[in-house]
Amino acid sequence: MDLKYLVLMIAFATIEINVTESRQNDKRRWKNDKGVYSPYANICDIQDRASRVHCYCESVKLKSAARADCWVFNGGIAEDDPFWSNFYSQPNIEKLTFNVRADGGLTYIPAKVIVRLDRLQYLNIQYANIYSIPSFAFTNSTTLREIILPKNKIAKLERMAFAHLIMLANVSLVENQITELKRDVFYVLPNLQRLHLSKNSLSVIHEGCFKHLDNLIELDLDNNLLTVVIRENFQGLSNLISLDMRSNKLAMIGDLAFAELWSLQELFLDGNEIEFISERGFGGLTQLRKLSLADNKLSTLDDGVLEELSKLVILDLKNNRLETLQQELLQNVLDNMRGSYSVIALDGNQLTCDCRLSWIYKLRNETRSKRQRVSLDRLNCIMAEPTNNIELSRPATNKIKQTNRVVIKPVVNKNEDKAYDDIDEEFGEDRAYDEPMQDQETETEKVLEYRRKLLEIPSEQLPCPHRLIHSAESHSPPTQDEVKYFKTSSSGKIAVSWLAFLTVAVGFV
Ligand SMILES: *[C@@H]1O[C@H](CO)[C@@H](O)[C@H](O)[C@H]1NC(C)=O
Ligand SMILES: *[C@@H]1O[C@H](CO)[C@@H](O)[C@H](O)[C@H]1NC(C)=O
Ligand SMILES: *[C@@H]1O[C@H](CO)[C@@H](O)[C@H](O)[C@H]1NC(C)=O
Repeated sequence: MDLKYLVLMIAFATIEINVTESRQNDKRRWKNDKGVYSPYANICDIQDRASRVHCYCESVKLKSAARADCWVFNGGIAEDDPFWSNFYSQPNIEKLTFNVRADGGLTYIPAKVIVRLDRLQYLNIQYANIYSIPSFAFTNSTTLREIILPKNKIAKLERMAFAHLIMLANVSLVENQITELKRDVFYVLPNLQRLHLSKNSLSVIHEGCFKHLDNLIELDLDNNLLTVVIRENFQGLSNLISLDMRSNKLAMIGDLAFAELWSLQELFLDGNEIEFISERGFGGLTQLRKLSLADNKLSTLDDGVLEELSKLVILDLKNNRLETLQQELLQNVLDNMRGSYSVIALDGNQLTCDCRLSWIYKLRNETRSKRQRVSLDRLNCIMAEPTNNIELSRPATNKIKQTNRVVIKPVVNKNEDKAYDDIDEEFGEDRAYDEPMQDQETETEKVLEYRRKLLEIPSEQLPCPHRLIHSAESHSPPTQDEVKYFKTSSSGKIAVSWLAFLTVAVGFV
């Protein structure tokens, strides 16, 4: 009986020793400042294979790591798990990354960590499953400079989610599922300069939701679902330099939509569904240098749209439905457009070859920008097939056909148009397309039009628009617009041929 008791004692003792040993292994206890063994494990040197979190640091010595890349594994870790205290072992971390390896591994911002790291400047969490960011999620940190949270399934930002972070300069919430931006989500962030909200599902941004961000210089709202912009959306952004709203669902730009953005230099509105821009749509953007409106549905632009943009040097209108770009529209910007870095891009529109485009010849001559010259040289326009009431445009067409240097091709619709562009690139620019399309039978009402390089048509041979003929026929005095065409024609020859044209037309009546 005594022996049995002894054996049992020894067995217990062995277990006890094993347990102590393994605890020492797992936690690598270390002495804190007071020489007392600390209860925390070194997070840069976690031995426990079962741990849900593992961090790799550039140095594993206690209190020495400035940077830690942590992985959160399947199963996840609770917000109040004692494990988070282990971050006391590395109080000098400045840059901390969490990569989450499976859904549900991390469903919250680990505030317990942020609050313990007195020197934390960069926080990056990705592939987590954080549905919502609560108020004061970043614990009023006075050291955080950058919070990068891409691909975390974040749908909701509570009021004060980003608040009282005096050093914060950059925030990225790219590729989440945020649908709405309320007021006071961003609050007391005196140094915030860049806010990236690209690739979310934003359809509503409340009035004044950026109003505490006086120092923001870059705002990305691209690839969202925004359908309207109004002035009140941008209240407070008086220092914003760049606004990216590409690939949203905007259909129109109303009066003064961007007027709060006094300092704005770059505005990207490409890939929306914009059909209409109100005359003062860009009112107040006196510093704007770059305006990008490619891939929209613009068919006309009001004369006054660019009026206040006196510093504009880059205007991208590619792939719209413009039939012309009248000189009146460009009045205030044409001077800048001669500079070395300026470009007006117009490819992929339905420009009509007529005298309204004669300013392009002059710009081609005067610009110092190589890019501008290249872009204008390849600009195509559509020459309506001569109909019986535009006799005068026929000689031009004939002449072109004789010399056979100019690309002439039938245009059926925009897609085929694109196809031709590709062909152009493949075969070089000298190839002529004299043959009509093969599949013409599929649609009966097709009007045959001819596409040509604008600058290969001598400017004096550009026809002038129909409405000039009509007014001539009715013997009414020319309208103000027509007088402008007449006066602003870049070469005297145009005026002369226009006059001849008018005389002939009048003669017919
Ligand atoms: C942060 O500061 C605000 C204002 O001083 C305070 O109301 C809030 O409770 C603080 N939050 C945290 C988590 O410290
Ligand atoms: C913020 O982002 C910009 C651009 O990516 C970068 O140049 C800058 O250093 C960042 N600022 C901070 C404080 O991280
Ligand atoms: C363009 O320049 C050429 C040669 O310098 C000149 O002959 C021509 O008249 C100019 N054209 C226009 C539209 O200014």
